[in-house]
Amino acid sequence: MLFHKVLISLLCTVWFRAGHAVELDLNNLDSLRNATSLVAYGLMDYYNGLQYGQTIGMFSNPYYWWEAGGAWGTMIDYWYYMQNDTYNDIIMQALQYQTGVNNDYVPLNQSTTEGNDDQAFWGIAVMSAAERNFTNPPADRPQWLYLAQAVFNTMALRWDDQTCNGGLRWQIFVWNSGYDYKNSVSNGALFHIGARLARFTGNDSYVEWAEKVYDWMESVNLIEDDGKGAFVYDGVNIGDNCTKVTNLQWTYNHGLILSGCAYLYNYTGDAKWYNRTERFLEYAYVFFNRTVMFEAACQGVHTCTTDQRTFKAYFSRFLGMTAQLVPDTQHTIMTYMNASAYGAAQSCSGGYDGHTCGINWFYGGWDGYYGLGEQMCALEVMINTRALHVPGPYNSTNGGSSTGDGAAGTEQHPTNLSPLNITSGSRAGAGIITAIIGISIIACGLWLIV
Ligand SMILES: *[C@@H]1O[C@H](CO)[C@@H](O)[C@H](O)[C@H]1NC(C)=O
Ligand SMILES: *[C@@H]1O[C@H](CO)[C@@H](O)[C@H](O)[C@H]1NC(C)=O
Ligand SMILES: *[C@@H]1O[C@H](CO)[C@@H](O)[C@H](O)[C@H]1NC(C)=O
Ligand SMILES: *[C@@H]1O[C@H](CO)[C@@H](O)[C@H](O)[C@H]1NC(C)=O
Ligand SMILES: *[C@@H]1O[C@H](CO)[C@@H](O)[C@H](O)[C@H]1NC(C)=O
Ligand SMILES: *[C@@H]1O[C@H](CO)[C@@H](O)[C@H](O)[C@H]1NC(C)=O
Ligand SMILES: *[C@@H]1O[C@H](CO)[C@@H](O)[C@H](O)[C@H]1NC(C)=O
Ligand SMILES: *[C@@H]1O[C@H](CO)[C@@H](O)[C@H](O)[C@H]1NC(C)=O
Ligand SMILES: *[C@@H]1O[C@H](CO)[C@@H](O)[C@H](O)[C@H]1NC(C)=O
Ligand SMILES: *[C@@H]1O[C@H](CO)[C@@H](O)[C@H](O)[C@H]1NC(C)=O
Ligand SMILES: *[C@@H]1O[C@H](CO)[C@@H](O)[C@H](O)[C@H]1NC(C)=O
Repeated sequence: MLFHKVLISLLCTVWFRAGHAVELDLNNLDSLRNATSLVAYGLMDYYNGLQYGQTIGMFSNPYYWWEAGGAWGTMIDYWYYMQNDTYNDIIMQALQYQTGVNNDYVPLNQSTTEGNDDQAFWGIAVMSAAERNFTNPPADRPQWLYLAQAVFNTMALRWDDQTCNGGLRWQIFVWNSGYDYKNSVSNGALFHIGARLARFTGNDSYVEWAEKVYDWMESVNLIEDDGKGAFVYDGVNIGDNCTKVTNLQWTYNHGLILSGCAYLYNYTGDAKWYNRTERFLEYAYVFFNRTVMFEAACQGVHTCTTDQRTFKAYFSRFLGMTAQLVPDTQHTIMTYMNASAYGAAQSCSGGYDGHTCGINWFYGGWDGYYGLGEQMCALEVMINTRALHVPGPYNSTNGGSSTGDGAAGTEQHPTNLSPLNITSGSRAGAGIITAIIGISIIACGLWLIV
């Protein structure tokens, strides 16, 4: 009896040790690794794809499929920046399971919801896998570069000259609402992936494509420069010939274009792309409260949706890349990144584990918000403080070993790839661990009441 009491009280001190923010000292790599390993663990807490009845690669409701693509990209960054490969097998399995039969990240299961932007975020994850030289898939499986090219090519094939003189529609499928909207995240992602493929492969066709997308976005005023800098609006409707702009500004759109320009400058050396990089960076101040990052369009008014609560993660990631690719941006970006990372770390002091992250990084402690997005944002901003201490993105001849095919995705042919081999053992193991954790939390609750 006594033994049980001791055991329970021990467990409970672990679960309810609330109020201890993750401690962060950016001058000490050990401190950063310790802090981010807690945040990464909290992120992976939301992944139940290995449990019975769940789907590999997906985070469950309310997290849409696209957000999983975003989260795997974050986990690749975590591995790369923190040199921690704890989750690499899970990342590998997830990225391969969701490719769909045509290996282009349009899996049949998602046809009721998948838009160009959703597909793109998985494409962006595998592009990072190629550029960071993440472990390659088995030789008989599609490689990271191939997958990124297939995403790019299938998106490019959907370029729509019939309306508004060009542009990608938001949706892939006519039956999904939003098919008549041409938005910045879909077009910006095509631009962004094109810029990265150009630099990785050295194929200038991708530069031409990126240029075409950028010019079109400018032509319908999705991209503007107001004298204080350049920025990106949300989207335009086909109904009015793309003349009325929905003028919301999101961090992730800003980051997609900013970093795309940085890639193109780094690859082409063209002053035009340098200038554009600087112009977008100059305007980035609207997403910072002094120097702490926030989602300006929704955070202050407490209306950020589940999707929007992940945007700062991508913005952090894209800012980090920009600093790696265009040296003149480093001081500004790292000032923002350092301050935001400290803000995020002190917000990670909530929940039953005592280090759940919130949404407001200037709140002074945890603000009561929690979720996959909050974990992703805090993790990305913290690890990207290391952007200048690691090699920048590799290309295909200086460290990136991934292989591809310029025509990937353009010939649709269902393949006979067998489902990945998930042993029932690993599923059962995960189930047992979940059960033990669940029971111990309930036991703690009871013990506290008694
Ligand atoms: C990081 O964690 C390790 C292992 O728990 C510990 O020994 C070390 O002191 C920690 N370092 C810092 C700076 O917190
Ligand atoms: C790597 O990450 C895992 C999970 O977050 C953590 O348990 C482990 O301590 C980390 N290792 C290091 C060296 O930070
Ligand atoms: C598609 O959905 C089915 C049923 O939920 C699931 O068994 C399967 O693993 C899913 N496939 C993918 C690629 O998500
Ligand atoms: C990769 O980058 C190196 C410079 O770091 C450059 O010499 C090489 O041409 C690049 N490769 C391609 C394919 O562009
Ligand atoms: C639609 O706008 C484009 C400019 O973006 C213009 O060239 C075209 O003539 C317009 N079409 C119609 C039907 O108004
Ligand atoms: C940089 O961009 C701004 C705004 O588009 C433009 O006014 C300026 O002439 C450009 N400078 C160069 C050197 O291209
Ligand atoms: C900026 O942060 C301060 C606290 O440092 C807070 O009082 C203020 O409301 C924040 N501003 C916005 C726009 O969120
Ligand atoms: C960011 O923090 C690191 C670690 O403390 C420091 O080396 C770097 O100078 C800081 N950068 C800026 C711009 O504040
Ligand atoms: C391009 O990026 C690489 C990798 O981060 C960097 O070393 C190099 O200086 C950059 N090139 C230019 C022209 O800025
Ligand atoms: C990239 O991965 C390949 C294959 O694992 C390896 O041979 C190569 O050394 C790696 N390159 C770098 C720069 O880590
Ligand atoms: C270069 O990229 C274009 C555009 O995606 C593609 O059609 C072409 O096959 C690529 N060329 C090579 C040699 O890979």
